[in-house]
Amino acid sequence: MSSHNDCQHPDDDEAVATPHQPGRRRFLQSAAAVATVGAAPHLRAQTQGTPGAAPAAPVAREAVPPRPVTLTVNGRAYSLQLEPRVTLLDALREYAGLMGTKKGCDRGQCGACTVIADGRRINSCLTLAVMHEGATITTVEGLASSGVLSPMQRAFVEHDAFQCGYCTPGQLCSATALLNEFRNGTASAVTANVRQRPAQLTGDEIRERMSGNLCRCGAYANIVAAVQAVHEGNTTAHDASNTTQTEA
Ligand code: FES
Ligand code: FES
Repeated sequence: MSSHNDCQHPDDDEAVATPHQPGRRRFLQSAAAVATVGAAPHLRAQTQGTPGAAPAAPVAREAVPPRPVTLTVNGRAYSLQLEPRVTLLDALREYAGLMGTKKGCDRGQCGACTVIADGRRINSCLTLAVMHEGATITTVEGLASSGVLSPMQRAFVEHDAFQCGYCTPGQLCSATALLNEFRNGTASAVTANVRQRPAQLTGDEIRERMSGNLCRCGAYANIVAAVQAVHEGNTTAHDASNTTQTEA
């Protein structure tokens, strides 16, 4: 026959706690109270000065007038009227009409917007056009010359280094600049000794140096092969019938 104590839930240790041994529930209650007291100053800080007040009205921002920005893009001078908030990517696409450079994430994560600015590859979505006043910019439209594909463009075709092609303008600009960086002796995160010129443009070097350019189609292996081929001079001679243009 069960006694009263036998009916207690084993977790209900408050019922068996002595005055000097508080039960678990009482302990948790105390801990919660301490936590609340600790958080109270923060809560007060959030609400101070606005007891019962209506939410503040949105602050009206003054429009910032456009200003002239001059860029040399693919050898052609552009004089644009741009608000200071316009990114280089939007300036190229929406104002200069060069739709080859793609907007993927618009936050520096995919590399689709890569262009070459004064010799350096950059994510054009992460920089303001006004910061490049007077700069020389190369976009994918500027890689070919007089309708002749660049060696990197030919290698991408020969190695089937794209599927949908959305990432390809950024990949091409990035790969083109990559080879110049390597020739100039720039080390990468996988270069064994960063105090010396990297000895070889290995597959690991290419993958690391292209790691800022994502490809959702997964053409990575062929992109690496294309870059390697150009580096080693293993692209076919130009064939005019192979010439293509990158469209928006
Ligand atoms: S659009 Fe610029 S990094 Fe993705
Ligand atoms: S070819 Fe489709 S995202 Fe790279």
